[in-house]
Amino acid sequence: MTIHTPVPPVETIPAEATGPAVRAVSPAPIGMLAELTHRCPLRCPYCSNPVDLERRSAELDTATWVRVLHEASALGVLQVHLSGGEPTARRDIAEIVRACAETGLYSNLITAGIGVTRERLEGLADAGLDHVQLSFQGADAATTDRVAGLPRAHERKLELAAWVRALGLPLTVNVVVHRANIVQVPLFLELALDLGAKRIEIAHAQYYGWALRNRSALMPTREQVGVAIATVEAARERLRNRIVIDAVLPDYYARYPKPCMQGWGRQSLNVTPSGRVLPCHAAETIPGLQFWNVRDRSVADIWRDSPAFNAYRGTDWMQEPCRSCARRERDWGGCRCQALAIAGDAAATDPACHLSPLHARMGALADADAGTDGAAYDYRRYATEPAEPLS
Ligand code: SF4
Ligand code: FES
Repeated sequence: MTIHTPVPPVETIPAEATGPAVRAVSPAPIGMLAELTHRCPLRCPYCSNPVDLERRSAELDTATWVRVLHEASALGVLQVHLSGGEPTARRDIAEIVRACAETGLYSNLITAGIGVTRERLEGLADAGLDHVQLSFQGADAATTDRVAGLPRAHERKLELAAWVRALGLPLTVNVVVHRANIVQVPLFLELALDLGAKRIEIAHAQYYGWALRNRSALMPTREQVGVAIATVEAARERLRNRIVIDAVLPDYYARYPKPCMQGWGRQSLNVTPSGRVLPCHAAETIPGLQFWNVRDRSVADIWRDSPAFNAYRGTDWMQEPCRSCARRERDWGGCRCQALAIAGDAAATDPACHLSPLHARMGALADADAGTDGAAYDYRRYATEPAEPLS
């Protein structure tokens, strides 16, 4: 599973005069990622879920999810992204969607499209589902099936997309691009238009969780990334009345970092299958953070007081060069998890920033990885023996 929060191209963000450091404040979050399960039929090598997945036996029950949704709505959350793994692997997915509708939350189903029958999708639509986001691993069957590690995956995704449109639900196509499919960006755009999608998200792979294991097999070259970005920019202009194109830029070749999560603890929260509440998808890779659980506390208490959420809120925690930088309230120092992965310090400037002393090293890592053509994938596996069923 890969989740991205679309961001504007950071290069277009104007610099502003440096103001005083921002104190850690906690306005209401806008979005919540509900990771309903880590079970998944696909085996994508770019999966950004943790290396150690949560087992089915540890998952929150229906009643707890319904309470969490009510609490999130009361706190001010507007959108819930139902994700995983594959969220439809939960037998109670319709009850969870219904709870979103009852509490006025906009529900977005983030699905790989495998194992969802038309009847099941109709049940979700009847329960009040607002939107479907469908992932494609390739623009053709051979690429999708190889990257996803599952035969006939592409065919089944096409089928689901048709049902989504027939039911009148808005559809977003989500694509994670990397070395094996980056040349297919024009084809992904055609595919999304053919499927009647209102939006496509083209996200360059982010190297957290399982994906970090496959970085050398996934990393595209600088030239490939340049062509892909130019293709997206041209398509935005050409297709602006037909489809919305969101892009998540590749960090390793960037000049400035992405404003990860739009700032730590500022706009969104993630709830894991077992109920831990995280400021971002990969926060558990940061040692020493203390995560609170919805089994023990309310969503509002966690959002406001959890040590993990307050660790990197605002700008007080920043080191130089971020601390005195004019962009510190624009990109919030980039990504804490990437700073940890590359710099070994989650409070360091994200090495994706050209002002980081480690920026050149990050670029060199990418160039070296991109040169290892032919590296084999380490495919994601949900469970070791004994195998756990999907539903
Ligand atoms: Fe952003 Fe920090 Fe780089 Fe300034 S120094 S641009 S705040 S990451
Ligand atoms: Fe960017 Fe954790 S993934 S802050």
